[in-house]
Amino acid sequence: MKDLETLRWIGDVDGRLRLIDQTLLPVEFTEIECPDVETVWEAIRSLRVRGAPAIGIAAAYGVCLGLQTVAGADAAAFFRRLDEVTDRLAQSRPTAVNLFWALKRLGDKARALGGSKSPDEIAAALLAEARAIHDEDRRMCREIGRHGAALLEDGQGVLTHCNAGGLATADYGTALAVFFAATEAGKTLHIYADETRPLLQGARLTAWELQRRGLDVTLICDSMAAQVMREGRIQAVVTGADRIAANGDTANKIGTYGVALLAAAHGIPVYIAAPTSTFDLSIPNGDAIPIEQRDPREITHGFGRQTAPEGVKVYNPAFDVTPARLIAAIICERGVIRPVTRERIAEVVG
Ligand code: MRU
Repeated sequence: MKDLETLRWIGDVDGRLRLIDQTLLPVEFTEIECPDVETVWEAIRSLRVRGAPAIGIAAAYGVCLGLQTVAGADAAAFFRRLDEVTDRLAQSRPTAVNLFWALKRLGDKARALGGSKSPDEIAAALLAEARAIHDEDRRMCREIGRHGAALLEDGQGVLTHCNAGGLATADYGTALAVFFAATEAGKTLHIYADETRPLLQGARLTAWELQRRGLDVTLICDSMAAQVMREGRIQAVVTGADRIAANGDTANKIGTYGVALLAAAHGIPVYIAAPTSTFDLSIPNGDAIPIEQRDPREITHGFGRQTAPEGVKVYNPAFDVTPARLIAAIICERGVIRPVTRERIAEVVG
């Protein structure tokens, strides 16, 4: 099976970013090119590229694109532009901390080189840094897969929410990496994919990814999870994360918290699979995680058809926070964090 190339940088410092347009899946597989910072901003904002790690990688390349307009300029103009593109990209989506992590990493790199290198040399170093983030993400997926696979047993039923697969990362995902690695290790899993209202990342993306790799996937509506658990079909829940606070409280796609409560009621462990770049140790707990509010039309006019009365009030938070006490373990590239406590997180991630 050919791996997905969710993001690809084409060319050198004057190159461009190529992305799979995820808004068109599963019906159409189309790649788009982002030649400048505005097209990257729009692609992140409208979820053409999505999932915390992929957003971070896109933002890093977005900075490189933004700096192309000051090629040959002096240091003052270069750093002014760097601030401008960083601020712009930081306003694309608020919850996934990987975005801010990647922007900070490039900013820190540029400032560290500021005294000794020319702006053009710094621009080249920033492209190398963006490529390094991209490569590290590939390795991270494999490590998360390896650590997580050991938690699952042959024949188990597992449930996932949203899409934390190859489309959300540089390689084969975080939550889905656990399923892929378990399968590579010879285990058979029966995977239930929540459809994931309102934008259907589970139905459109997770079901598509699992099916194309030949895994046993069954799609359910979000509201069916309780019944499916009650019928004894689920032995573990594995999802990704957008931001994990210092105490382990975890923001992920809206609906994850509900799934975690249902899992607790049925004695089913919840595992969060996420790289260390998804931890935000500056935030003490989940109350401080910014939750993205999205366009009401995603609910009232989903996928081109009006499904609610004109003018009805809508509340559309894109993420929720699952408290650490509902999470059995967090699987990151450095290993399995269990129990999920502030101390254990500081030990592994800090
Ligand atoms: O709004 P999205 O599709 O970007 O939300 C994505 C998720 O919630 C994922 O579970 C999370 O980013 C982890 S991706 C490895």
